[in-house]
Amino acid sequence: MLNCLIDKRGKYNMKTAIIYYSKHHGNTKKLLDAIVEKNPDVKLIDVTDKHEVNLCKYDRIGIASGIYYGNFAKQVITFAKVNLPEFTKVFLIYTYGANNKESFTKEIKKVARDLYCDVDGVYSCNGFDTFGPLRLIGGIHRENPTQDEINGAVDFYAALPGEKIRRPLRQGGKIVAEA
Ligand SMILES: Cc1cc2nc3c(=O)[nH]c(=O)nc-3n(C[C@H](O)[C@H](O)[C@H](O)COP(=O)(O)O)c2cc1C
Repeated sequence: MLNCLIDKRGKYNMKTAIIYYSKHHGNTKKLLDAIVEKNPDVKLIDVTDKHEVNLCKYDRIGIASGIYYGNFAKQVITFAKVNLPEFTKVFLIYTYGANNKESFTKEIKKVARDLYCDVDGVYSCNGFDTFGPLRLIGGIHRENPTQDEINGAVDFYAALPGEKIRRPLRQGGKIVAEA
């Protein structure tokens, strides 16, 4: 089953959904809204709306979150563990308040790896942060994500590889064909 179409540049137009958690100030969602404005076929799925969603019709899944306690939100990690289909193309988007750290993506990358999913790209930037005592000083990164950072997310999405990987089709636990 081929879900994607070939666009004018000969690039596969991958059927894409982005699962996300963005509850602090909606910083991450600002990046996603800009991506959807340019790519209206992209489906946004708020992981707090439903616990189980069939994502098999998508060729590519974005996983997006603010950083909470040094990690992607637990809600988005749990959602990915439950719903991310094996052998799917994945990309990551996140916003953070303090200094960017590679460790922020460690657990979510492991979730993807355990499901044989390739992580095609990662995009991140600062987001407005009023967590804990930061509220007393009016928060940090009040202007973030900036318009440039939002445009950067749109460019990042456009530059993701467009090919589709071969996905084994399973029936009764056995691989019967490749899509
Ligand atoms: C409970 C909580 C914990 C946070 N922990 C971190 C953290 O460990 N590191 C960091 O850089 N930012 C941290 N932040 C800041 C958020 O990552 C940042 O504001 C992010 O842009 C929020 O994204 P959102 O508005 O899409 O939810 C935390 C914010 C909250 C509310």
